[in-house]
Amino acid sequence: MNPTDNVFQSYGRCCRDEQFFINFYTFFMDSSEQIRERFANTDMAAQRHLLRNGIMQLILTARGMSDRKLRALGESHDRHHYNIDPAWYELWLTALMKAVRHHDPEYSPALEEEWHEVLRPGIDLIRGAY
Ligand code: HEM
Repeated sequence: MNPTDNVFQSYGRCCRDEQFFINFYTFFMDSSEQIRERFANTDMAAQRHLLRNGIMQLILTARGMSDRKLRALGESHDRHHYNIDPAWYELWLTALMKAVRHHDPEYSPALEEEWHEVLRPGIDLIRGAY
């Protein structure tokens, strides 16, 4: 299987348990006080649901789908809207990989490499819109 297929399947195994997203946000918010503040007034149950779709968009775009939805995320996260510091995306990816390690029983360092490879272009697109 190619990397996008492996990551798609890995994500499917992670998504079986809502705790995956709860853990992700715990890890992400624990990585910086400034990030925690950004979600102080957020409905986290709704946010977990939105992120579930957002990660799916990253994977589907890598599989050849239109990047229209990622460009919209680039705009909502840019300096004129949520004003998300480009440096924070590395923390985002680190928290996500930690959650994958916890939740995918088939996790391996090689699979983590594939996750990085598959998500990188989509993350660069969102971050690059800053
Ligand atoms: C909202 C995805 C990175 C902070 C959202 C939404 C999605 C999303 C789907 C809801 C739709 C929208 O409002 O446009 C992603 C993806 C990311 C990413 C896929 C990585 C590639 C980040 C980072 C931060 C962040 C690094 C840093 C703190 C926020 C905030 C909201 C949001 C504050 C709004 C929360 C609210 O409504 O109160 N994100 N995000 N995101 N994201 Fe991100």
